[in-house]
Amino acid sequence: MNFQEQIKQGIPSILPEAKPYPVDANRAPKRKDILSVEEKQLAVRNALRYFSKEWHQELATEFAQELKDFGRIYMYRFKPSYHMQARSIADYPAKCQQAAAIMLMVENNLDPAVAQHPEELITYGGNGAVFQNWAQYILTMKYLSEMESDQTLHLYSGHPMGLFPSSEDAPRVVVTNGMMIPNYSQPDDWEKFNALGVTQYGQMTAGSFMYIGPQGIVHGTTITVMNAFRKVLNKNEKTQGKIFLTAGLGGMSGAQPKAGNIANCVTVCAEVNANAATKRHQQGWVDELIDNMVELIARVKEAQAAEEVVSIAYIGNIVDVWEAFYEQKIFIHLGSDQTSLHNPWSGGYYPVDISYEESNRLIREEPEVFKTKVQATLKRHADAINKHTARGTYFFDYGNAFLLEASRAGGDVMAENGIDFKYPSYVQDILGPMCFDYGFGPFRWVCASGKPEDLDKTDAIAASVLKKIMADSPEEIQQQMQDNITWIEDAKQNKLVVGSQARILYADAQGRMEIAKAFNDAINNSEIGPVVLGRDHHDVSGTDSPFRETSNIYDGSRFTADMAIHNVIGDSFRGATWVSIHNGGGVGWGEVTNGGFGMLLDGSEAAERRLKSMLLFDVNNGIARRSWARNSEANFAIKREMARTPKLKVTLANLVEDDILDNLSL
Ligand SMILES: NC(=O)c1ccc[n+]([C@@H]2O[C@H](COP(=O)([O-])OP(=O)(O)OC[C@H]3O[C@@H](n4cnc5c(N)ncnc54)[C@H](O)[C@@H]3O)[C@@H](O)[C@H]2O)c1
Repeated sequence: MNFQEQIKQGIPSILPEAKPYPVDANRAPKRKDILSVEEKQLAVRNALRYFSKEWHQELATEFAQELKDFGRIYMYRFKPSYHMQARSIADYPAKCQQAAAIMLMVENNLDPAVAQHPEELITYGGNGAVFQNWAQYILTMKYLSEMESDQTLHLYSGHPMGLFPSSEDAPRVVVTNGMMIPNYSQPDDWEKFNALGVTQYGQMTAGSFMYIGPQGIVHGTTITVMNAFRKVLNKNEKTQGKIFLTAGLGGMSGAQPKAGNIANCVTVCAEVNANAATKRHQQGWVDELIDNMVELIARVKEAQAAEEVVSIAYIGNIVDVWEAFYEQKIFIHLGSDQTSLHNPWSGGYYPVDISYEESNRLIREEPEVFKTKVQATLKRHADAINKHTARGTYFFDYGNAFLLEASRAGGDVMAENGIDFKYPSYVQDILGPMCFDYGFGPFRWVCASGKPEDLDKTDAIAASVLKKIMADSPEEIQQQMQDNITWIEDAKQNKLVVGSQARILYADAQGRMEIAKAFNDAINNSEIGPVVLGRDHHDVSGTDSPFRETSNIYDGSRFTADMAIHNVIGDSFRGATWVSIHNGGGVGWGEVTNGGFGMLLDGSEAAERRLKSMLLFDVNNGIARRSWARNSEANFAIKREMARTPKLKVTLANLVEDDILDNLSL
């Protein structure tokens, strides 16, 4: 059977042979054994719903074994034999182009070159799933192949509930991932209900089929590092030779040296795991590899003096670097940290003064001792940072819970009021006020033809649109516009494509709408094939997350999730091709509500109408909320948008003088 026939078949009519697990695959970690015997029975009963009775005996035994061995039922046997990758949109068996575009994006998120644990349908973040099992994938692709342009497929955490009649302007797919009754959203609830096969963790873009590989992280990190330097340097000072010290060369953190190079500084990135550091070096994501402190100090002094642009991986503990650089009086302009402190006790953060191997032994055999060592290291880490910041270093938390865990360990990181931290997070100080509040966020697109030359053409179109907009932009956003023009002009030479022909570009509402319109015109003129638009959920409006995306909301509403919910509902009736809303993503299950969309541009008038209506709302919903929270940059941006768009009328906040409040008797 060829690829198209396999897709159209859905659940096969003949039971496929059980296959051995591929030797070279990166298997997902074994999940917690959390179900009672009765619940395990229920999990198997649930899994068998997808198959006809005559297979039940054989599959029940197999699924029970999967549950025992891996903590989940993935239904490995049903993984299709064709290679998983984003094909050209024309290769998909579909009755409407929108459905074919969604199939392309689903496959891209399961491509072994893109996905972290492809056999377990996990795209990134350790647990960011596209589907819970292979039956869900097979059925979804079949439904998409049958879908007509007035039907909508509803996916409940990967499970295709079915195709429902709708209308041409409705989304073709509506996705929910991990939506829970709020009181059932503790981490162990995910373990239990995911093991039962009734919910999944979609992370941000995994469960919405919008992940495009490491490019997204590189761009976000570059924007952060460049803007952090702007906070500390004088207007005409160059970043060459200035030091950005940080840690971690893992999944996301591995983007730091590449971002540092694009931002033209000296990046020093410590990594305790020699394999991780060597891998990043071999991939060309970091320039130099050094494994002893004497050599590191000499090399960094040389790079500083010669005003070099270079990234250096130091194989060792970050705390040693902070301490040694203090002794050596090496001035650090920017400091941060991307060790995995959201997961401090199982290898996310390694203690100083003991070897990597010994740490791993302690994790397994003496977890309490390991915990004490981590906490002692965090205190030392905080002390060393404090000494540097006293000399003028700018330190920011990179959303990895460094300040939270350092405070829990008793580290000196609290502000004088005892409530806030001494140092800001990257969203509080940088991405929030400098990007999100103005509407700049991680807009992205995929060329559905699969042709690299289409991507080149879209890069050129986007650059020319942004240059035109910049000519009339107010002073407040000139810098952001210039950064994004530089990024898109250099994007090809930075070789960022993995998987589909995709591009990420920070842009505001006007930028996103005008770029999308120019793409649609180019498709209409047959200059390029169809384009899928989307964005990361880590954006202006899509995500309510009190310690990350909405951490610079100070009116108390950062613990609400209205914005993300309004966003997904609003996008869905304004023309999105698919929408998704998730519990969890980045900071953890129960800690964030985030959503996104996908939109196919096919060159039609309908696509033009939809892109204008939906992109305007998709960005300005969040700006309106940020403005209502009294963020001055958002207030500026929403007033500008209202002047441009007469039908937009947003409630504006009145500001109260402090002395009126100070004199209240409360
Ligand atoms: N990049 C972003 O845009 C972004 C945004 C928000 C949050 N984060 C956070 O950043 C963290 C890192 O993410 P990741 O995907 O890279 O995780 P990861 O686990 O793949 O990588 C972290 C690396 O840190 C290393 N490490 C641990 N302790 C160390 C120490 N003391 N000294 C030196 N190296 C040490 C580990 O060996 C590991 O390779 C996560 O907590 C993530 O949530 C990143």
